[in-house]
Formats: sequence, C-alpha cells, structure tokens
Amino acid sequence: MKSSILIRPYRPTDSDATIEIFLRAIREVSSKDYSPDQINAWAQVEDPAKWAERRISRPAWIAEIGGKPVGFSDLTPDGCLDMMFVHPEFQGLGVAGRLLTRVEEEARRLGMERIYTQASLTVRPFFERKGFRVFTRQTVERRGQRLDNFVMEKFYSRCC
Ligand SMILES: CC(C)(COP(=O)(O)OP(=O)(O)OC[C@H]1O[C@@H](n2cnc3c(N)ncnc32)[C@H](O)[C@@H]1OP(=O)(O)O)[C@@H](O)C(=O)NCCC(=O)NCCS
Repeated sequence: MKSSILIRPYRPTDSDATIEIFLRAIREVSSKDYSPDQINAWAQVEDPAKWAERRISRPAWIAEIGGKPVGFSDLTPDGCLDMMFVHPEFQGLGVAGRLLTRVEEEARRLGMERIYTQASLTVRPFFERKGFRVFTRQTVERRGQRLDNFVMEKFYSRCC
C-alpha cells in the first residue's frame, strides 16, 4: 500500500479536499480522545477563503491514493509542522508517515535543526514513534472549549 501513496506539492485547487479531510479526521478519528463539545468546537472552518490563504502561505503537501487526496501536512518557515491530517477511510496505511518523511526532507533542505508541532492526544503516539519528544503539555481554547495538546519537537543534526 505504501508504494501506492503519492506525495505531491499542495495546489490551490486542493483547498476543499483539505477542509473535508480536516473535518472528517477530527469528527471520526480524534473524537475517540475528546468530548463531543470539544470536537464540535475544533471541527469548524468558518472562513474557507482564509483557510485557502493559510494553506498556500507555506510549503504544504498532499498525499494521494488513486488520484484522491487522502492526507495533508505543511511546514512554516519557523519549523512548525502545523497540519497532519489523514482521511478516516485511509488510516493506518502509512499516509502520515510518508507525509512526515517529505516534511523532514524539506526541513533538512532548508537547514532547519528543529521541527515542532502542537500534537493532539490522537496524533501524539504517531509523532513519538517518529522520534518527536513532548516539550510541554498545554491547554488551548477553541470557541469556548478547552482542549489539551502537546508541544512536541524533534532535532536534526546538520549534515557535514
Ligand atoms: C494520527 C494520524 C495523523 C496518523 O495517520 P496514519 O496515516 O494512520 O498513520 P501511519 O499509518 O502513517 O502510521 C505511521 C506510524 O505511526 C504509528 N501510529 C499511527 N497512529 C498511531 C496511534 N494512534 N498509536 C500508536 N501508533 C500510531 C503507526 O503504527 C505507524 O508505525 P510504523 O511506522 O512503525 O508502522 C491520523 O490518525 C489522523 O489523522 N488523526 C486525526 C487527526 C489529528 O488528530 N491530527 C493531528 C492534529 S494536531
């Protein structure tokens, strides 16, 4: 299956697909770790135009299977991996792993020595498996709800 996953750069026309993946991943996957009220508060895209602007404001990648977008991730200039979401019907197939490999390639290419992310309870075990460590636990507010997550980081040594 891993070989049938294609990772390609994000295109502006991917905006709607990323919104669907984002909302469904939270509602159908992260819902095992957060309450219904927390999920309702988190799973909102109130302004699709603003969402689209954010997606093209930094390097981002789409994972495709059979021509269908099934996951996405990105990397801001300060080393933040802001998004890591995989479509509920394509979980456990290596999609997030392939996306992270691409993000890490880009970080190394840019000479970054550290990547960090704000990891949900759901994604924390994935990042731990990939060598990230919890820097701190925090509580963030989303539309009146308080959600726990973890700031996680991974360091990269500069190559020769
Ligand atoms: C967490 C998530 C991104 C993982 O995506 P995925 O494509 O299913 O993950 P992969 O198949 O690439 O897994 C890669 C590795 O992580 C491990 N892993 C993934 N999720 C895991 C979990 N919940 N617990 C333990 N290990 C996990 C896999 O076993 C695999 O290990 P391997 O490389 O040794 O085989 C996905 O479940 C998701 O979209 N969750 C909901 C959205 C979310 O909370 N995103 C984060 C927002 S901050």
